[in-house]
Amino acid sequence: MNPSTTPPPNVQNNSPRFDLDGRVALVTGAGANGGIGHALALGLARAGARVAIADIDADGLAQTARELAAIGPAPLARVVDIADSAAVDALFAALDADIGRLDILVNVPFAFPARVRPHELAAADWERMLAVNLTGYFLCCQAALRRMLAAGQGSIINIGSNAGESALGRGALPYGCTKAAVHQMTRELAVEYAGAGIRVNAILPAQTLTPGLRGHLDNPRFRDHVLPRILAGLPQGRLLDPKDYVGPAIFLASDAARAVNGVLLPVDGGNLAMNAGGSHTWPA
Ligand SMILES: NC(=O)c1ccc[n+]([C@@H]2O[C@H](COP(=O)([O-])OP(=O)(O)OC[C@H]3O[C@@H](n4cnc5c(N)ncnc54)[C@H](O)[C@@H]3O)[C@@H](O)[C@H]2O)c1
Repeated sequence: MNPSTTPPPNVQNNSPRFDLDGRVALVTGAGANGGIGHALALGLARAGARVAIADIDADGLAQTARELAAIGPAPLARVVDIADSAAVDALFAALDADIGRLDILVNVPFAFPARVRPHELAAADWERMLAVNLTGYFLCCQAALRRMLAAGQGSIINIGSNAGESALGRGALPYGCTKAAVHQMTRELAVEYAGAGIRVNAILPAQTLTPGLRGHLDNPRFRDHVLPRILAGLPQGRLLDPKDYVGPAIFLASDAARAVNGVLLPVDGGNLAMNAGGSHTWPA
């Protein structure tokens, strides 16, 4: 048979499945209780995956580990700064030693140390955002790819942002630049490794009710001026919920998405679809 018409071994004679039974997933940035990484770690575990977690925050990580242990096996949980290449190497070495395989990598952390106008941004804050949001994602992708190449399969999901596709303003320049770069990294890796059975996709969230955003709700300036503006850009009329990303992540990680590769999937209630000058409400 012509090789270009031959389905790969993992695709032959099966119907695509959404469950993650028997898969091993690593979720970085899973330590913020109520954050997106936390929701994804628990969601992948409930879909059947054995989930390992990493985060820079030891207390949050321990909390997520306890919750995962109530769903399945006690997880591998490592305190790691993903911008530190030696720490990333140690994380993956621990994964090799403890579990010995990796099917799914989900990159979630982000740094956003300063929300200031671009001309006032300190060089160190610019560097930190690049180090965590871009280099850290690359280091984890690289380590995962080495294992996935040896196994001949794998799925990587990078968490991007609507801020990488359109401009947020409000001091988001360096954050948006790093997210745009993650989107391009996702496409490049997807193309580079498509022939090796590895898929690389990104989920692009919009403004989500995480602990970080919840903390701003007490600030009247944010509540009365910024929040209405954010909601006007969300056609569903609500902030996203961390659990909104679980279904899309399970899909992208599973065989059901076996031909989905290099996709930047907005999970944003229609935010990126909407024209900024348009109206999604009818006059009363
Ligand atoms: N929350 C939103 O409104 C929103 C919108 C668009 C995109 N996103 C993206 O979604 C992802 C999750 O956002 P969230 O709001 O749930 O964040 P979060 O703060 O709830 O979780 C991020 C986690 O990453 C960890 N972390 C930070 N730096 C780290 C590092 N160097 N190494 C390892 N772990 C580190 C934090 O301790 C935290 O547990 C981020 O990539 C963010 O850019 C979020």
